[in-house]
Amino acid sequence: MNPKESSNQQSRRDFVKSSSLLAGGVLTAPLLSRANYFSGADTVIKIALIGCGGRGTGAAVQALSTSQNVQLVAMADAFRDRLDGSLKPITDELAAKKERVQVKEENKFTGFDAYKKAMALADVVILATPPGFRPIHFEEAVNQGKQIFMEKPVATDPAGIQRVLAAAAIAKQKKLNVVVGLQRRYQNSYRELIKRVHDGAIGEIVGAQAWWNNDGVWVHPRQTGWTEMEYQMRNWYYFVWLCGDHITEQHIHNLDVINWAMDGYPVKAQGMGGREVRKGKDYGQIFDHHYVEFHYGDGTVLNSQCRHQKGTMSKVDELLIGTKGMLLCDAARITDNKGRLIYQFDKSKENQPYQTEHDELFAAIAKGEYKFWDAERGAKSSMTSILGRMATYSGQAVEWDKAINSGINIMPSAYDFSAAPPVLPDAEGNYPVAVPGVTKFF
Ligand SMILES: NC(=O)c1ccc[n+]([C@@H]2O[C@H](COP(=O)([O-])OP(=O)(O)OC[C@H]3O[C@@H](n4cnc5c(N)ncnc54)[C@H](O)[C@@H]3O)[C@@H](O)[C@H]2O)c1
Repeated sequence: MNPKESSNQQSRRDFVKSSSLLAGGVLTAPLLSRANYFSGADTVIKIALIGCGGRGTGAAVQALSTSQNVQLVAMADAFRDRLDGSLKPITDELAAKKERVQVKEENKFTGFDAYKKAMALADVVILATPPGFRPIHFEEAVNQGKQIFMEKPVATDPAGIQRVLAAAAIAKQKKLNVVVGLQRRYQNSYRELIKRVHDGAIGEIVGAQAWWNNDGVWVHPRQTGWTEMEYQMRNWYYFVWLCGDHITEQHIHNLDVINWAMDGYPVKAQGMGGREVRKGKDYGQIFDHHYVEFHYGDGTVLNSQCRHQKGTMSKVDELLIGTKGMLLCDAARITDNKGRLIYQFDKSKENQPYQTEHDELFAAIAKGEYKFWDAERGAKSSMTSILGRMATYSGQAVEWDKAINSGINIMPSAYDFSAAPPVLPDAEGNYPVAVPGVTKFF
């Protein structure tokens, strides 16, 4: 939850001073960042985009479309073609405000270390790579004292979650705003609905359901000359170390809504899943369906399902059942137990939450306000999805405390295009897939 504005308003000068002081000595890297130097109305807020794919491009356009004096000054991607493929639509979208796109050739960075160089040139960083890299990038952004917009999920394994939680605590000390792209938290309908749930509109929550069922995503066929690392990076969706599986990459949105309404996180999960339709070497190692029971501490059970199977029923939604009524999120409606309407959100008042995330973040930054500390809850909702994956992969009941403290780290030991990724294909090109009852938690 965000702090109340009134108690957190500081003068711009105080903000600069306190952020810079706190920046000193907490972490090891040089911390006197430009991020806290918004000392005049004409000051430009400089942005670096890390991860120039579909979402990074969209987020950059949204950041550059806010009413503050913002400029994109640096871009970083693993691949030059992706960076160029992002700069073009950003430039086109910003045609009417082209002074906002100022990425000099020397400020276009590629490779695994590109993020550090791009961040150093900016006040605000947008982190939009595949989620496996998020803990590394978030930690560096905090280390460098930047204001941060980062996409969900924020990690793919428990070790990454712990790394994000540790950096989140330091971001709080330094008063660095952090917005996480769980955009339902910035969507008018969800804000109105969940506020009413917290005010008791449906009584005590006793059960919940969540769905992310649809077709799935792209495949990039293997090209001659690609190393195995490049192949996996280009097809990150299908590799657990990069993506977390689709329960983490997409279903996190629905799980986060339930956590928000519950104002807490599950203590245990058990479930089932597998690959039934989307099989074969083009699809790496992830499942095409997961069904999980998440148990919360008060006995509430969330039944969650996510599926990537073409030709099956599509549904992306959440449902909360209370002692007095129900919340149906997609319909934006609260009813009593007899189905009578208690509240209907007026959909003509819906906003574009992807834009609102940036509008609110940049307004706070320009005013020198510390208003957003989404990293901790983003990490815990990411962990919720990882807990679900650990349950479906292993076929065991998995407890939150054990899972989050397990130290399980599925990331590579070296980041280089010639290095071996943590999972390799067999002689036929197939990747190992989890087998419930055999696979240990990961
Ligand atoms: N909030 C939402 O609704 C939403 C929607 C889409 C995507 N996302 C999230 O945004 C992130 C990116 O997704 P996308 O759809 O844009 O994927 P994408 O494949 O289009 O873009 C990812 C980019 O990151 C680059 N990259 C990979 N590793 C990198 C590294 N180590 N350093 C720098 N760049 C690197 C890739 O080359 C690619 O250009 C994911 O975490 C995804 O879950 C969120």
